[in-house]
Amino acid sequence: IYLQEIDLTGEYKELISTLPLEKGWIKMPFHQYQGCWIGTTTLQNVLSCQQHFQALDTDILLVTSPKSGTTWLKALTFALLNRKKYSNVHLNHPLLISNPHDLVPFFEHDLYINKDILPNLNSLSHPRLFSTHLPYHLLPKSVKESRCKIVYLCRDPKDNLVSFWHFINKLRSQSMEKLALDELFESFCRGVSPFGPFWKESLMERSNKVMFLRYEEMKKKPDFYLKKLAEFMECPFSKEEESKGVIDDILNLCSFEKLSGLEVNKIGKVGTGVENKYFFRRGQVGDWKNLFTTEMIKQIDIIIEKELVEYGLSF
Ligand code: A3P
Repeated sequence: IYLQEIDLTGEYKELISTLPLEKGWIKMPFHQYQGCWIGTTTLQNVLSCQQHFQALDTDILLVTSPKSGTTWLKALTFALLNRKKYSNVHLNHPLLISNPHDLVPFFEHDLYINKDILPNLNSLSHPRLFSTHLPYHLLPKSVKESRCKIVYLCRDPKDNLVSFWHFINKLRSQSMEKLALDELFESFCRGVSPFGPFWKESLMERSNKVMFLRYEEMKKKPDFYLKKLAEFMECPFSKEEESKGVIDDILNLCSFEKLSGLEVNKIGKVGTGVENKYFFRRGQVGDWKNLFTTEMIKQIDIIIEKELVEYGLSF
């Protein structure tokens, strides 16, 4: 039944049409590609990216689960890398007039969206900064074979799920009914969610090329993690910068309060057409406590224990 909704064209048509299908959360169905559930259009872009992206050793790639704080991480890493060029965070800073998603492109939502025109990445300044929701095993081969750095961000799956639920319902058109939390919960816990199963983060490579971050930790100690991030990205803060308050300047500029209050993030849209304001909701830890029943907590905790805690990831 879902096949009717798919508009498949081009060179990946045959491959995609053979993959297992599940009902999607918005319009498109999810296809199971190498163990990962991805919507039709996005999957076409993913395949193009896997085929064409050539990583450089100097690249920095942000790998995040959707709704785990990607927008925040994009803002922080952009501000870190460009702090010499835009030394005044109150004046003429790109983050004051652009949504972070327009400053750090996604492989699958921005760069590889047109199969006929591949992105020209040669003109980008170095280090190039990219972002993706792809799990480690689906990253383009050249990323894994190069010394390209990976910043990996994940979040407590319960908050991830709640964030998803609000976001998806904003994206569903008026003619579609709201997706009930228990319906989304059931799908999420079966592993069927965009780029899911959510427990795939246990598969992330652990090496000195990968920096592992967690949303909850970053909320607790943002200055500590910003410094760590700067060191990892090979642009550590100098003593002079520290004494001048550059760390706080960047944290304030990228804070939920600051970004969500900017005009551009209240009225603009990102390249994919999603309204900027949808990327900012509460920006807090533990909102799931307001929504989950005892039964839901029990059910998801069993999965977390089995699939994540075993791998050293407890939430
Ligand atoms: P909530 O829905 O829990 O509020 P993503 O950027 O990966 O789509 O994730 C969105 C989540 O990050 C949302 O969580 C959003 O509010 C939160 N967020 C956005 N900007 C943030 C910021 N600057 N600091 C902290 N959290 C932020």
